[in-house]
Amino acid sequence: MRTQVGIIGAGPAGLLLSHLLHLRGISSVVLEKRSRDYVERRVRAGVLEQGTVDTLIAAGVGERLLREGLPHHGIELRYDGERHRIAFEKLVPGRAITVYGQQEVVKDLIAARLEAGGDIRFEVEDVAAHSLADRPYLTFGGERLDCDVIAGCDGFHGVSRPAVPPGVLQTYERDYPFAWLGILAEATPSSDELIYARTERGFALHSMRSPTISRFYLQVPPDTDAADWPDERVWAELRTRLETVPGFTLTTGEIIEKSVTPMRGFVTEPMQYGRLYLAGDAAHIVPPTGAKGLNLAVADVRVLTEALTAFFHDGSTGALDGYSAACLKRVWRAQHFSWWMTTLLHTFDSDDAYGRRLQLSHLDYVTSSEAAATTLAENYVGLPW
Ligand code: FAD
Ligand code: DHB
Repeated sequence: MRTQVGIIGAGPAGLLLSHLLHLRGISSVVLEKRSRDYVERRVRAGVLEQGTVDTLIAAGVGERLLREGLPHHGIELRYDGERHRIAFEKLVPGRAITVYGQQEVVKDLIAARLEAGGDIRFEVEDVAAHSLADRPYLTFGGERLDCDVIAGCDGFHGVSRPAVPPGVLQTYERDYPFAWLGILAEATPSSDELIYARTERGFALHSMRSPTISRFYLQVPPDTDAADWPDERVWAELRTRLETVPGFTLTTGEIIEKSVTPMRGFVTEPMQYGRLYLAGDAAHIVPPTGAKGLNLAVADVRVLTEALTAFFHDGSTGALDGYSAACLKRVWRAQHFSWWMTTLLHTFDSDDAYGRRLQLSHLDYVTSSEAAATTLAENYVGLPW
């Protein structure tokens, strides 16, 4: 079997790449170890930058996103018994974010690929990448797929990054001493906008998926087992961390999903080796506080699509050679913003009373200075591509 681009992973990065390449007349095969049902149900991100929304619309997969996505023109920072709005319409006019579940993006992309006759193999076993330096090929479940190029879109725990010979890649990493417990609940959102809450008991985030589904995250110890968080405990903790301002009452409901996510920043440099190009979480991850991971994956895929188009249409390798350098500036900006938001809003056991005062002073500055609020707003809605 042969294709132009062998793609490992049917997450947002791999699926979008396959779709954009198809629009340029470039063939690909996507190999995914999980089932279609599993990837379509995997609850993760929810905040799409304007550039991500524009990319999906331009690619012809934005119809349901436009209908069901929830545009947001601000977020709330809640701390010390007060609420403070970061008003995008004032600070970054004309730019906003859209709340639309990652698994909905994945469903839309899978539907578009299959409708166009695209080749996505689900539940493939033992994917391995070979001969990356010159004539790359993939093996899986006893089959062989020869390709001109391999795109490693298989997330942080995938096989593509470890396939690069030792010593080639440099990695940069920061682990945070806490995790997020994420829940999805059949409950009307208690707020029109996202609430990022800093409390002495830790961080809490109120988000949503639809007018009837709420999404919440709680800062928890890194070794947390979701089983230790029965529903009543989750709601009690969310109440404690969110019902901190006058007139706010949390609407509760049935919890339909619960999972724990470790918090980590990680970057691989370069994001390529020979004919292998890494995109999305396979190359870098951010702590989710800045809502940047999915958006970065989309940004990588846009750059890679342009570079592959130049390669397959004109035989030019310049853009492919420069792929990693073209992505890494945005990657590091997002790393910094995600670290900044994380430090601004979480409690660190290592912090003393002085550290906590500094954090509150920082929050006061961000919510009272237009310059500081603009820094948050322009990074949150996404810097220009
Ligand atoms: P993935 O989505 O991880 O996809 C990789 C795919 O490869 C998977 O389908 C996997 O099954 C498959 N795979 C793995 N190994 C193999 C193998 N060996 N063979 C074949 N297939 C394989 N980002 C945002 O932008 N905004 C947010 O609001 C946000 N919130 C988040 C909240 C949480 C709780 C979490 C966990 C993440 C959040 N993110 C957010 C990050 C975002 O979800 C990820 O950055 C995004 O999923 C990256 O997409 P990807 O396609 O690179 O990787
Ligand atoms: C969501 C996730 C995030 O990481 C974030 O910062 C905001 C919202 C969400 O899943 O809705």
